[in-house]
Amino acid sequence: MRILTGIQPSGKFHIGNYFGAVKPTAELQEQGDAYIFIANYHAMTTVQDPAALLQMTTDVALDFLACGLDPERAALYRQSDVPEVHELAWLLSVACPMGLLERCHSYKDKVAKGIAASHGLFAYPVLMAADILAVQGEVVPVGKDQKQHVEVTRDLATKFNNAYGEVFTIPEPMIREQVAVVPGVDGQKMSKSYDNSIEVFAEGKPLKKRVMKIVTDSKELEDPKDPDTCNVFALYKLFATEEELANMAECYRAGGMGYGHAKTALLEKINEQFGPMRERRAELAADMDYVNDVLRQGAEKASMLARETLQKARQAVGLE
Ligand code: ADP
Ligand code: TRP
Repeated sequence: MRILTGIQPSGKFHIGNYFGAVKPTAELQEQGDAYIFIANYHAMTTVQDPAALLQMTTDVALDFLACGLDPERAALYRQSDVPEVHELAWLLSVACPMGLLERCHSYKDKVAKGIAASHGLFAYPVLMAADILAVQGEVVPVGKDQKQHVEVTRDLATKFNNAYGEVFTIPEPMIREQVAVVPGVDGQKMSKSYDNSIEVFAEGKPLKKRVMKIVTDSKELEDPKDPDTCNVFALYKLFATEEELANMAECYRAGGMGYGHAKTALLEKINEQFGPMRERRAELAADMDYVNDVLRQGAEKASMLARETLQKARQAVGLE
């Protein structure tokens, strides 16, 4: 089974991104022949600072490799290293009715948020279709917000195949179940836009300060407490074993334990889980030759498929 997914580079990497997106994506390597790419062409629709784009692209590669993506098993590459997708996007564009793009929510949502209404932003689903169809992805794991784009891909591939013969594999979306919304230090959804996140690669004092800032109710030390409404407990749940969780819940309910104690236990868990990944990330960052090699090899693997698909598509439409 060939699995393909793309990730937009988007700034600092927090615990919500880790549990909600990066961990499940890195685990795709267990499920089939995985192609995971960093969607830097797509990111250009919202990031116009060249240095930031480059930095964020590298950051995604480091984050994934540090979090367990094994480049021997999954191809990791930059979208821009497979420029064949652009030619394919044109062939698909010509087959794409305007109405199909006009119905896409993501364009309207982004424009409503103040992002410039460029042609690139509007045509983005066609480029996404080309990303998927170029490598003939069979299964496309995405968040709920991207489901419509995979449906556009299916529509376009079907239209093209009907008009020109069987060129593309029709992909299936695999909608990533939200594990749970990871709360931020203020109890709202953790998000880089709300200044409430705990970064995966933070450490030492800044990390401790962040954890100690998690909002709780004002119950006294000796009062019994409710684990199910507590932000500290909700975060602890992500890291602890069943047994540790049951113990912690009992301490909450029995009273006599302060929130400071629960926060310290959480901090220990964060360090236990992310400590080795931080070290790995630092090692990788000091060896960019290796990281660039991984990206190059991933791109070669994806390009081989993309060139093959493109040739079939060029012949089908009468370019050669
Ligand atoms: P942010 O909200 O910080 O801007 P993004 O929108 O860039 O994060 O999300 C990137 C990925 O991380 C998405 O797939 C999203 O589902 C996941 N994600 C982000 N925040 C959370 C969260 N608080 N809980 C679970 N998953 C999250
Ligand atoms: N549009 C996706 C997002 O914003 C990223 C993406 C680009 C993608 N091309 C893709 C995802 C192809 C899956 C397949 O999250």
